[in-house]
Amino acid sequence: MSPEPAYKKSLSEFIGCSPDQFFLYWKGRVALYAALKAMGIKEGDEVIVPSFTCVVVPNAIMYLGARPIYVDIDPKTLNTTLELIQAAVSERTKCILIQNTFGLSSQVDEIIDFAKEKGITTIEDCTHGFGGTYQGKPNGVRSDFSFFSSQWNKPFSTGVGGILLVNNNDFREKVNQVNTDLIYPGFKSRVMLKLLILFNKFFITDRTYWLLVRLYRFWSKTGLVIGSSSDDELNSPMMPEGFFMGGCNVQYREGVKALNKLKGLIDLRKKNAFLFTSFLKENGKYYVDPSLESDHSFLKYPFLVKDRIAFMKKAEQASIRLGEWFESQIHPVHEHFELWELKPKNFPVSKEMSSHMLNLPTEIKNPNKVIQFLKKNLDDLI
Ligand SMILES: Cc1ncc(COP(=O)(O)O)c(C=O)c1O
Repeated sequence: MSPEPAYKKSLSEFIGCSPDQFFLYWKGRVALYAALKAMGIKEGDEVIVPSFTCVVVPNAIMYLGARPIYVDIDPKTLNTTLELIQAAVSERTKCILIQNTFGLSSQVDEIIDFAKEKGITTIEDCTHGFGGTYQGKPNGVRSDFSFFSSQWNKPFSTGVGGILLVNNNDFREKVNQVNTDLIYPGFKSRVMLKLLILFNKFFITDRTYWLLVRLYRFWSKTGLVIGSSSDDELNSPMMPEGFFMGGCNVQYREGVKALNKLKGLIDLRKKNAFLFTSFLKENGKYYVDPSLESDHSFLKYPFLVKDRIAFMKKAEQASIRLGEWFESQIHPVHEHFELWELKPKNFPVSKEMSSHMLNLPTEIKNPNKVIQFLKKNLDDLI
């Protein structure tokens, strides 16, 4: 089987749906943009999004001339709630985006029922949640659309990558129409992606991690290397040239291999997360409530520190690979929030969380090293 159908088959087996429901893109943000365009989002429309997300989410909305309407989060789930969404809906609301944050979906059925009543389309942002479940069913199967990311730090990786799952058949033909405008990665991009994947496999160790991540972030921002976000995407909500890009065989081949290992990886993430929960709970610090564990696939484990920058320095010295999601309400942007129509103070919970949050790595063989590090620096934790 050629790489694209093989990848769609693997994806569909994992999620339990038909391969024809999947559409593949260069990145998750491109899949989101395609879904918004297929549902006819246009100037003046409003799309509800969490105020605790990645800037590429409001970007995709604003590229179509629509407005992101931010909603605060629940500090326990780090997701929006039905009540907060209801308060933000207007007659201009065309879409509600339901985010799976760090591997946790919450109130999905309630939000979808409400949206249906109002004739509003739903998208699940499952970029953190591929392979996980919500109330026994795979993440992403309930809403009209859902999208996933297979970027470096996501549930499984193809370097960069985006997947759109269309659950509402009425939209499938529209997505096909939208996709006629796609451009495809050229030879240079494909080779570079393959080299980055190999490099990541063979050269990243606990000791080299921070130096290489810093170099990678610098080069990818300048556009010299394929990366998560370019300077253009972080400086304004204007669509950069070459944004609407489809996927390629390098990603599809890598995806099939990575999906074969995903079940084991999710088990490992959950096992480590449970250890972190008991440690943090025992020591009176912020932890993920055990009542959320069955729906959580723990891509990252969130915890809170008094001084994020100082704590990151300590982690680097101890060769602990902490994550910085979401160190801003529209990560990783730190200024000119007005460009994205965000008033940070209007969303006090996400503001507070993003000022103090870091993430523990869950994909590790030695969780005790992390726990020992936390123990040593317990006074720095909230
Ligand atoms: C919540 C959220 N949504 C969307 C995206 C976009 O995914 P991608 O980087 O594949 O475009 C990200 C990326 O990190 C994310 O964290």
